[in-house]
Amino acid sequence: MGNNKKKAFTRIKYLIKTLNYHNLQYHSHDSPEITDEEYDSLYQELKNLENLYPEYLDKNSPTKRVGAKILGGFDKVKHSFPMLSLTNALTKDDFQKFYSGLQEKLGKKDISLFAEPKFDGLAVSIEYKNGNLSSAVTRGDGKVGEDVTMNIKTVKSLPLQLSGKNIPKKLLLRGEIFMNKKDFERLNDQLIKNDGKPYANPRNVAAGSIRQLDPKITSERNLQIFIHGVADIDLNLNDNKHSLLMKRVQNMKIQTCELNALTQSFNQACKYYQEMQEKRETLPYEIDGIVYKIDDLKLHKTLGSTAKAPRWSIAYKFQSAEKVTKLNNVIFQVGRTGVLTPVAELEPINIGGVRVSRASLHNMSEVEKKDIRIGDYVYVKRAGDVIPEVDRVCLAKRLAKNSKIKIPKNCPSCKTNVVKIENQSFYRCPNHNGCPPQINQSIIHFASRQAMNIVGLGVSIIEQLVDKKKIYNYSDLFSLTYNDLLGLDRMAEKSAGNIFESINKSKKISFDKFIYALGIKEVGATTAKILSNEFSSIQELMHARKSDLEDIKDIGPIVSENIFNFFQNKDNAKIINKFIKFNLDLLYERKIYKEKSLDGSFVITGVFEKFTREELKEILSEKGASIINTVSKNTTALIVGKNPGSKYQKALDLNIEIIDIKKLVKLLSKSR
Ligand code: IVH
Repeated sequence: MGNNKKKAFTRIKYLIKTLNYHNLQYHSHDSPEITDEEYDSLYQELKNLENLYPEYLDKNSPTKRVGAKILGGFDKVKHSFPMLSLTNALTKDDFQKFYSGLQEKLGKKDISLFAEPKFDGLAVSIEYKNGNLSSAVTRGDGKVGEDVTMNIKTVKSLPLQLSGKNIPKKLLLRGEIFMNKKDFERLNDQLIKNDGKPYANPRNVAAGSIRQLDPKITSERNLQIFIHGVADIDLNLNDNKHSLLMKRVQNMKIQTCELNALTQSFNQACKYYQEMQEKRETLPYEIDGIVYKIDDLKLHKTLGSTAKAPRWSIAYKFQSAEKVTKLNNVIFQVGRTGVLTPVAELEPINIGGVRVSRASLHNMSEVEKKDIRIGDYVYVKRAGDVIPEVDRVCLAKRLAKNSKIKIPKNCPSCKTNVVKIENQSFYRCPNHNGCPPQINQSIIHFASRQAMNIVGLGVSIIEQLVDKKKIYNYSDLFSLTYNDLLGLDRMAEKSAGNIFESINKSKKISFDKFIYALGIKEVGATTAKILSNEFSSIQELMHARKSDLEDIKDIGPIVSENIFNFFQNKDNAKIINKFIKFNLDLLYERKIYKEKSLDGSFVITGVFEKFTREELKEILSEKGASIINTVSKNTTALIVGKNPGSKYQKALDLNIEIIDIKKLVKLLSKSR
């Protein structure tokens, strides 16, 4: 046996065993350990190898079976028409091949394909006799399923009796049972609260709910159904299209998906896929691809089916936003305020077209809660543009040697002893003014658009300046010379000039932006604004007592302490003094603000289109107004939105000034 052949044989044996195992986990135990996409790609690999080496075809291969084994507990029922599976297209290329195959076989360019979302649920076969729901059977292995009639009857959107004229003697429908995302989350929350095991996805919960031996439990699950096919209809009719059949069942008050659509060309079919992929997140239920079916029923007969799937249909799957991979190591990154963040180094994988080799583990309490260990196989998620994160561990693949993640004793960068932040699961390197990543990031923050807005001073320039010891902290930016900048790698004269000018320009800045730029722990833009209104100079803020800070409305004790500690630190005090020396032109707003403020106590009632109640409160408080809850004779004015409550009448009775939406807008624009 050649080396390649031997390798293929071993791989085929491995793939059959693995896929059969996962099949059982998925179909019979409702507890999958790998994502659909991963399953599909292993399946595809097996199929390719079997095509190359037909001599290794094994009767136990999952490519020879339609479904999986069924569990006991329900009566077994033979399907009068087998419940087939679908061929998957995992890429646009696959879909294109399917389409051009049809073009060739049918001898035409444009093919009418009925497009439907592929619902992430459980397939069922439902029979109506003389208009009455008579039986419901799960797919099982495609030939024999389980009788779940009692449970299906609890699905509220499925009529027990058909409506309208022209009721067929016999109607055999195929559809998908599923659970809405919201109900799914609610159920899982409940399970976790009661120390139960949460379900992995809505499909498993649908399957688990339909197989409940007590229909009362099924009924509580609020299951949904979409019918996606008619397997048999005993009626003299000339519906020769799948779309017409769907319309017919719809008229009988059977629920089909409102997103179904007929496409007339390859481009239209692709456009539908694109549109649905964009809509996917906003839908109330999970879908994992698009099912295309030739609309012309005559052609179903012409093309026929393989043992597994019809040739007139395909499931074009969406790229999954979740994948399983090995966690090779965990490193710790030091952030701007010295917090150590565990970061997973992963065996590189492609998620939704993006290569991922690192993912955030957030903090140590997350790591402990998820029980993540080095060497584990983990599910990695990438939703939209969000940074990839490790969602959960694949416990079935855990090895005894996989080691727990330990927080390092010393900072990975400057080797200072790490300290635990009291009552929190964070660890920090306390060497704020001497630890390179902390210095770099505090300067990046200082220069950012919301802070000093130093245009052109990017991350790599800052890193070089720190590395070459041209600067040690952000105040040194103002002593940089044009030549310092020009001396950096790949720095053109024009860019050096622009950056130099931008640094100088930033000297004239509003006080609140400057406070924000300092990067005091937990002092964001809003707190910076509050501070800029309370203090009339940087010197005053710098020398504020702890009690002065604690007295400020909307600033809590922890933030007050952070501010106080920041200015107490000798290095920081030196930095601030340097700023003063550099003649920063800070624009103080305090006095102007007080003059134009909204003094008095205001009460709010009703709804406001432009902002939430909380936002309105914040805007008004920022302008000096006190917001109180009840109208009294001391109230300055009542602010009235749409549908005001009883406060409105009370204000009228007490002759309190009423500010309606129009007046409010005017007032807000005037007072600033
Ligand atoms: S048609 C012979 N349409 O996907 C074709 N199936 O992977 C029968 N599914 O067993 C299936 N949404 O449970 C069809 N709009 C849809 C579907 C759909 C989900 C499921 C169905 C089937 C499986 C095949």
